[in-house]
Amino acid sequence: MDPRKWLLALRFVGWRTAGRAVRAAWERDQAERIPGPPQVLSWQPIDPLEHMVPLPDGARFTGPNAELEIRFLAPEVLRLSWTPGLLPLPYAIVRETLEETKVSWAPQPAGWMLESPAIRIEVNADGRLRFQTPAGRLWREEDPPERRGEAWRHRVRLRPEERLYGLGERAAPLNRRGRTYRMWNRDPGGSYGPNVDPLYLGVPLWISVHAEGVYLVFYENPYDAAFDLGASEPDAVQVTFAGGALRYYVFYGSLEGLLARYTELTGRPPLPPRWALGFHQSRWSYGSAEEVREVVRSFREHHLPLHALHLDIDYMDGYRVFTVDRQRFPDLAGLIHELEGQGVRTVVILDPGVKIDPGYSVYQEGMARRAFCRLPDGRVYRGLVWPGWCVFPDFTDPSVREWWGAHYQALLEMGVAGFWHDMNEPTTFAAWGEPTFPRTVRHEMEGRGGDHLEAHNLYGLLMNRAAWEALRRMQPDRRPFLLTRSGWAGIQRYAWNWTGDTESTWAALRQTIATVIGLGLSGIPYTGPDIGGFSGAPSAELFIRWFQAAAFMPFFRNHAAKGTPRREPWVFGEPALSILREFLELRVRLLPYLYTLAWEAAQTGAPLVRPLFWGNEDDASLGEIEDAFLLGPALLVAPVVEEGARARKVFLPSGEWYDFWEDRRLAGPGFIEAEAPLERIPVFVRAGSVLPMAEDGLTLHLYAPSAGEGEGTLYSDAGDGFGPYRVDRFRMEREEDWLWLRWIPEGDFPWPWETFTLRLHGFAVARAVIDGQESSIQGDRFRVRPFQEIRLEEKT
Ligand code: GLC
Repeated sequence: MDPRKWLLALRFVGWRTAGRAVRAAWERDQAERIPGPPQVLSWQPIDPLEHMVPLPDGARFTGPNAELEIRFLAPEVLRLSWTPGLLPLPYAIVRETLEETKVSWAPQPAGWMLESPAIRIEVNADGRLRFQTPAGRLWREEDPPERRGEAWRHRVRLRPEERLYGLGERAAPLNRRGRTYRMWNRDPGGSYGPNVDPLYLGVPLWISVHAEGVYLVFYENPYDAAFDLGASEPDAVQVTFAGGALRYYVFYGSLEGLLARYTELTGRPPLPPRWALGFHQSRWSYGSAEEVREVVRSFREHHLPLHALHLDIDYMDGYRVFTVDRQRFPDLAGLIHELEGQGVRTVVILDPGVKIDPGYSVYQEGMARRAFCRLPDGRVYRGLVWPGWCVFPDFTDPSVREWWGAHYQALLEMGVAGFWHDMNEPTTFAAWGEPTFPRTVRHEMEGRGGDHLEAHNLYGLLMNRAAWEALRRMQPDRRPFLLTRSGWAGIQRYAWNWTGDTESTWAALRQTIATVIGLGLSGIPYTGPDIGGFSGAPSAELFIRWFQAAAFMPFFRNHAAKGTPRREPWVFGEPALSILREFLELRVRLLPYLYTLAWEAAQTGAPLVRPLFWGNEDDASLGEIEDAFLLGPALLVAPVVEEGARARKVFLPSGEWYDFWEDRRLAGPGFIEAEAPLERIPVFVRAGSVLPMAEDGLTLHLYAPSAGEGEGTLYSDAGDGFGPYRVDRFRMEREEDWLWLRWIPEGDFPWPWETFTLRLHGFAVARAVIDGQESSIQGDRFRVRPFQEIRLEEKT
């Protein structure tokens, strides 16, 4: 480890813990020292498959030392399972099958062929698989899988133009091709910048885009794995799993369709409470009720909107989870209530480690119920975290999940609105080696038993599951808000994510964009960075640029490590304060749009933040762009990620765009040079968009297309709970000098606005006909009552 990192880590953990970390690393090494099976040194391809047995939705193929089962879960979704090897417990998935599918079989000279209406798959007896369309377009080709002891190696061919995305949270280029990634959730320690791997939250899936189409592959195998995406062989992926069955799902279709199907299988991201899309203020740590009051008061005094305040570890009594330090927070319930009265929700951090302290009830209870993870010899495993020596709940045991979840009750009763789950990779401090449990630690695995090598990557997912299930039980009328650092496939069902302990550097800001887009392409739509980076002292300029970018990301939170200079928005003085206020206000104005995107994500799995090639997968020129992103269908955001830059190049995809700030209409595709004074970053609106914003109550911005159609949606409900809702679709159509706007309402939540504003962009109105009635209109904005159809004539 480099000495700078050591020093930083020391600053965070303190001398005492650092000293114990030597002991912890030694104990871990001891626990891992078990005689393993004899090492088989070389990879062996499986012996040829000999028999095929048809199944109603697929087939099973058997050979002397391996078996392959192929099932069509839908016409364009396949599940393939190579055994031997332990089959995964279905923690990631919510559905066994998706759609009844007609499958046909046929023998072939070298093996067999299986076909659905969407996919034809050739199974060669030697284990080679070829995935095609029914018309014979080949879009994925696998070599025979190989085994070495318990491990599997899988090789997939790559085409020269093929681009690869996904893998969960990565500090890597958006196109993952050309590198090797580890699938083993890990706290990088201290803080991280570009190229650090692995990070806290891996998802074993990638999306492949090439000339023959787009596919997604998800490996349902939680073991430690290496994904070599063309690093050692430029034209092949090699995936190696340390154990388990080689089970994977292959989806074929459009990018949007793939994520819809993948999140149908692994669960859709539920609609969050509306406040969660607002602004969150945090710091490690606001250490007393007085300090919290002071911060919230300053937000008010500076006219800065604030939706949530986060309490980091120092609200606890000696970092004991589920306790409150009564000295610093004598009446936490009262404080939370007071904040709520000002529209500020309270989110508290919870870490899984339970302090070893015979006088502490959570420790006592957990010991009595055998809730904590054990070593193979039966001793309870101990590891080091903030409280010192800790024991760790085994979330793979349903009764432990229930026991753990019950502890949220007391915090809910105090009014806590959300929970922030940290250190759940799981992380334990160690002076060297892996900062986590020994791989030999035992887990219940729903009763079937297993070890940490299998359970490691599932730990964060299951901690969140425990909390989610408890919150749904205890507050059935509320939508839970959970924020997590770690997770696995399926985590989107339970929690939001933040990108962890980033450095306060321009490079880390730039990296954040690719990381957030990459998470969305891995099924995790709600994420965002610590604004300004976690660990350092961002300059005012870096902080402003980071804030401007994050204002367009799903999770919008200011957070920083202890020991760093304060960075509440007023700390930087002017002009920073005014600029930050403007972006905060813009965020609030965008809430109707963001909330609508959240509803769409819950319906389809589409991430809020999307790569520029979303819906445009064939356009290779968009495939590598990682310094700009789409926010939903309407907006293109191009953050400034270079110190001193007051302009930047932006690639506009094909079509017409409006400059958000100046209303100028621009034509893509191609690069433009966009102005970017410190006060703003380039933002563009797709022509044809109807953008709902919270201005004068509600304003619908109509970005007129010069021809053709456009559309915008507005989702509304009570902001929390599971009551009535409505979806209003606004269709725009251009017919020469006329612009039509049609309103298609749906749902039973009452329309909240007696009147609202229509604001026109790129269209000067001469005359308006609202539901057949002539209306006199001056200027580019006018108030309307609910209507069915508006016809606007352009001034010529
Ligand atoms: C971890 C978290 C960070 C938090 C700190 C103290 O480093 O990633 O966000 O502030 O722990 O709880």
